[in-house]
Amino acid sequence: METQTYNYKVVRQFAIMTVVWGIVGMLVGVIAAAQLRWPELNLSEIAPWFHFGRIRPLHTNAVIFAFGGCGLFATSYYVVQRTCYARLFGGNWLPAFTFWGWQAVIVAAVITLPLGYTQGKEYAELEWPIDILIALVWVAYAVVFFGTIAKRKIKHIYVANWFYGGFILAVALLHIVNSMALPTSFMKSYSAYYGAIDAMVQWWYGHNAVGFFLTAAFLGMMYYFVPKQAGRPVYSYRLSVVHFWALIFTYMWAGPHHLHYTALPDWTQSLGMVLSLILFAPSWGGMINGIMTLSGAWNKLRTDPILKFLIVSLSFYGMSTFEGPMMSIKSVNALSHYTEWTVGHVHSGALGWVGFVTIGSLYYLIPRLYGRKEMYSTKLVEMHFWIATIGVVLYISSMWVAGVMQGLLLGELNPDGTLAYPQFVSVVSRTMPYYLIRTIGGLFYLSGMVMMAYNVYRTVISGKPVDADIPALPQSANH
Ligand code: HEM
Ligand code: HEM
Repeated sequence: METQTYNYKVVRQFAIMTVVWGIVGMLVGVIAAAQLRWPELNLSEIAPWFHFGRIRPLHTNAVIFAFGGCGLFATSYYVVQRTCYARLFGGNWLPAFTFWGWQAVIVAAVITLPLGYTQGKEYAELEWPIDILIALVWVAYAVVFFGTIAKRKIKHIYVANWFYGGFILAVALLHIVNSMALPTSFMKSYSAYYGAIDAMVQWWYGHNAVGFFLTAAFLGMMYYFVPKQAGRPVYSYRLSVVHFWALIFTYMWAGPHHLHYTALPDWTQSLGMVLSLILFAPSWGGMINGIMTLSGAWNKLRTDPILKFLIVSLSFYGMSTFEGPMMSIKSVNALSHYTEWTVGHVHSGALGWVGFVTIGSLYYLIPRLYGRKEMYSTKLVEMHFWIATIGVVLYISSMWVAGVMQGLLLGELNPDGTLAYPQFVSVVSRTMPYYLIRTIGGLFYLSGMVMMAYNVYRTVISGKPVDADIPALPQSANH
């Protein structure tokens, strides 16, 4: 007979590693930020593996795939079990394979990226043997997730699962198509695509990595943990379904906004721009749906720091999905591209949206996985919230100001039509004060993560791992 408890073990493993990789990835981010402010920290002569060019992809891979990825595995495994009233599919070994396989991918990235092994494609840098391992783990993930959906005891598939499921399918497709390459040796390969087509495929991948990895999947998190923590049903369930279909349809077309004014055919750039503008509507529909879920319970925001993380994450989601469509307008992009404005936009999404919604969800999850009512210290959660908020604000506002300044200076012309700032370095040197503020902001955000690690540690050692029983179906189910 099948065990009548949920499989929380794998959820616990992924949840703890989210915090660990969060600290590693963000520490590497702070180092990269400091290297831009103090170039001598690149240590080019003595330690080429410590150079910004190697550290930067290590940061992006660590925060997106290790921190974000582990957070998504943990929450999707928890949510799919709880909403399907079923233990994870695949026995104990298949979910365990996804855990150890994913950690192996991360460790391989931590070793190979500083050594300089890269395919040179942003967010898809890892070389072909690691790509194959990713594909294997991902297929196993899909089998566990959809297998659990298939054996659900409740007819309805809760909307969070649609978002997680869409993300799993889309990432499989993106990863396999974009990683097509011809290996020439064990750690070297060449892309199967060439020229403008290679660029187009890469940014179809890159943009949808944002759309599905950094957005749709975290919306799955939002649609479960916001109602749970608020103690209220989703504001409009119908809107959540419209949100899902509109979002996944629209994202797929928007990639060319990363390649404005390039060799890509002009019509593809315009199409990317128009679809990005349309994307504003479902994004804001979803954001409003999330925030309005709190209607009637706004007072909880005063006392509940976990809810603060979740609701403020939605505000950042709204902010970055307003800013993104604006930046995709070609004339605005002429100013923002090649400047820190892009980096500011990225981190308002990454720190404000992805970071906050993950942190809030983990604070909800961890006590429940260790048989406790709440985290060891709610006060520390509150402090984490404020220190992280200050960190995000310092980071993004400094990058916005720096970005607009850079865009204006780089485009400034003398009366005779020549560039007023022909030397790039003169613009870089003017950016230094902003780099300093960004580094301080990053340190604030990182300190918050360290507080979280301590709080999680105390919660774990004062509780004990529990695998909750699968409860009886509610009366209203399947009617
Ligand atoms: C302490 C927190 C963090 C700090 C200090 C930090 C710092 C940095 C720095 C210095 C860069 C390089 C920017 C450049 O090339 O000019 C960068 C890039 C990037 N970071 Fe972070 N980061 C942090 C957290 C995160 C998180 C949590 C995520 C994602 C969930 C993230 C995602 C990215 C991405 C996607 C890029 C590439 C941006 C682009 O290509 O425009 N970062 N970060
Ligand atoms: C409606 C939604 C959004 C639209 C239309 C949008 C649009 C854009 C545009 C136009 C760029 C600049 C491209 C360039 O000049 O190179 C960009 C960059 C970026 N955005 Fe967004 N954005 C949206 C939401 C988000 C969110 C929510 C996140 C993060 C969670 C995010 C992460 C990024 C990243 C990582 C990049 C940098 C890519 C790179 O160059 O490496 N975006 N986005």
